[in-house]
Amino acid sequence: MYEKHFGLRRKPFSSHPEPDMLFWSDGHKMARTMLAYGLTSGFGTVVITGEIGAGKTTLLQDLARRHRDQNRYGALTGDIGYENDVANWLLYGFGIESKATSASQSLLQLDKFLAQNRNQGRKAVLFIDEAQLIEPKLLERVRVMAERQSGGQPVMQLVLFGQPELGSILNMPQLAQFRQRVVAHYHLRGFNRAESGDYVSSRVAAAGAQPELFSVEAIDRIHDAAKGIPRQINILADTSLVYAFAADESVISDATVQRVLKDREQHGILKTDQPASFQ
Ligand SMILES: Nc1ncnc2c1ncn2[C@@H]1O[C@H](COP(=O)(O)OP(=O)(O)OP(=O)(O)O)[C@@H](O)[C@H]1O
Ligand SMILES: [Mg+2]
Repeated sequence: MYEKHFGLRRKPFSSHPEPDMLFWSDGHKMARTMLAYGLTSGFGTVVITGEIGAGKTTLLQDLARRHRDQNRYGALTGDIGYENDVANWLLYGFGIESKATSASQSLLQLDKFLAQNRNQGRKAVLFIDEAQLIEPKLLERVRVMAERQSGGQPVMQLVLFGQPELGSILNMPQLAQFRQRVVAHYHLRGFNRAESGDYVSSRVAAAGAQPELFSVEAIDRIHDAAKGIPRQINILADTSLVYAFAADESVISDATVQRVLKDREQHGILKTDQPASFQ
């Protein structure tokens, strides 16, 4: 719609994860380092929590495809679970179609899969997104599965990504054993002001326009309103482009962003959420 007006090849701000556009904020780098540390430490679970829209899924998708080493990687989301057949759910995460007709058959198949990996000198690493949606009881069963051994060693490592409540869930008394297996944890927050500026400029440049398309004051305003959360930045920046296009403006000014915020405040359903741990 507004692309031609601003000399853009495509829309610069989307609301879905785009690992190709990953901007390496300090937080994203730190999360990557914690994951690398957790994976090299051998076994145990890595937990990445983060504010809603902070970029967890984007990071997960980047990491899951970046790992091209000898290990076997799989991915699942916590909104789909096989309450009665956890082994089958885990196999599904590794892209294995199970022919098992009972939970015990699935377990045998999982053990075979893990043993095969071990014999080939690799471990199985499973990324689970939206892990805050997994029932604590099911989480505990997943842990037990991950600790199944082959040749006297555990052969599967879990990497959980989830919204802040995942931290509260893992602190529940019934998950004490799970908690003790967490070898690395990092909490992803919103960007700081400098990062928000670089983030907006990099997206605008990647879409083919001058990075100065947004004035410094406009970025200040977007950063403050979005609390540095990338999804909120994207929504505000995208809407500001629409408003500026409608007003035939060539640069996004603070006044434009203020108009967007005022309209959202008065009539919008998309209020800017307040992340709990914004600093
Ligand atoms: N580091 C980043 N680089 C580029 N884009 C990002 C980054 N972080 C987030 N985004 C963008 O912000 C939006 C939200 O990202 P994402 O879906 O990964 O967040 P999330 O933390 O998984 O959110 P939720 O809590 O709702 O699952 C997406 O449009 C994504 O492209
Ligand atoms: Mg997500």
